[in-house]
Amino acid sequence: MLKLNPAAFSPEDFLQNYWQQRPLVIRQGLLHFADLISPDELAGLACEEEVESRLVYRQDGAWQAESGPFDSYERMGERDWTLIVQAVDHWSPDVAQLVPPFAFLPKWRFDDVMISYSTPGGGVGPHIDLYDVFICQGSGRRRWRVGAQGHHRQFAAHAALLHTEPFDAIIDVELLPGDILYIPPGFPHDGVTLETAMSFSVGYRSKSARDMLSGLADYVIDRELGNQLISDPQRPVHRQQGQIGAVDFARIRAQMQALLDDEQLVADFAGSFLSKSKCALDLQALDEPLSEADLLDCLQQQPLQRTGGLRCFYLDATLAQGVCYVAGERYAFGADCRAAVLALCDHDVLDIDLLHSALHQPQFISAVCDWVHQGYWYFAD
Ligand code: SIN
Ligand code: CO
Repeated sequence: MLKLNPAAFSPEDFLQNYWQQRPLVIRQGLLHFADLISPDELAGLACEEEVESRLVYRQDGAWQAESGPFDSYERMGERDWTLIVQAVDHWSPDVAQLVPPFAFLPKWRFDDVMISYSTPGGGVGPHIDLYDVFICQGSGRRRWRVGAQGHHRQFAAHAALLHTEPFDAIIDVELLPGDILYIPPGFPHDGVTLETAMSFSVGYRSKSARDMLSGLADYVIDRELGNQLISDPQRPVHRQQGQIGAVDFARIRAQMQALLDDEQLVADFAGSFLSKSKCALDLQALDEPLSEADLLDCLQQQPLQRTGGLRCFYLDATLAQGVCYVAGERYAFGADCRAAVLALCDHDVLDIDLLHSALHQPQFISAVCDWVHQGYWYFAD
């Protein structure tokens, strides 16, 4: 099992002093770290339609970026190019092993493991990200420069490549295998490869109020919620035709506020919305539905594994009702299933003991059969 090196990294110190505050170099954060996937396998994944990938390179000094899938890399030569593949944890259980070491952060904040393969001189250029990232150095060597947060002009170095102007470095290091560089959002950075390298970026996401409100709007529209119209019986005579008066404005705000004050609605929305995956999952659906007897039989023999990238959460606000949110859908199993819901969402591997308390609940078993049928969870053998 992959673990962060406790001699090099303390989660408590990190959360107090660095997370969302300032960048950090963690030398040998992963002891004896070896690539979790080969460059050939990574290149193969980038040939697949469902996998998100990019090639970034320089041609006659000009930056170029292309989106995958790619059918060959022969034209790329020996240097100055990078292949980036998104959400590799969805496709490779070995790569997914890099996620549990960061379990000191909640899974709903986690986004994906992005991997770059880069040749000498390669990199994506100086840029700013909107997310937190732990860049774990696999094979090879890269020089990373990180600048201070502040106003940095950004420009399109290519239609698909947002760069930032040159910056003074507050960190200027060479990352070696096993080293980790943490970069919070807003800090300009630039990684240039010195020796052909594999970088494993464990990325975190955060949503803006705009993202959440637009998601909430879709949620209430899809479920035909929030239909109540503004009501204003017994209004006084209005004098100024063009005016939306203070009392009316208060009504308008109260109407929207009532939706946001509905804890159940917002909890169900947040759980559903945040449990959606951004990138495709490698779902190995069964040909036939799984019967409840077969599920119990299989669970006696071996544990269930969660498919890489599947998002599955509960909220304190709705847990008492045995509610969980799986891949964008809400499930309510009742108070008796509370412990099983916790197990389902907190663990990647589920043995029969973890699920035991809910295995007599028809609704719960039937949902698990359905999830296994769809490939959300699977039996390894
Ligand atoms: C890379 O590995 O080159 C890109 C990682 C990043 O800067 O976000
Ligand atoms: Co970046």
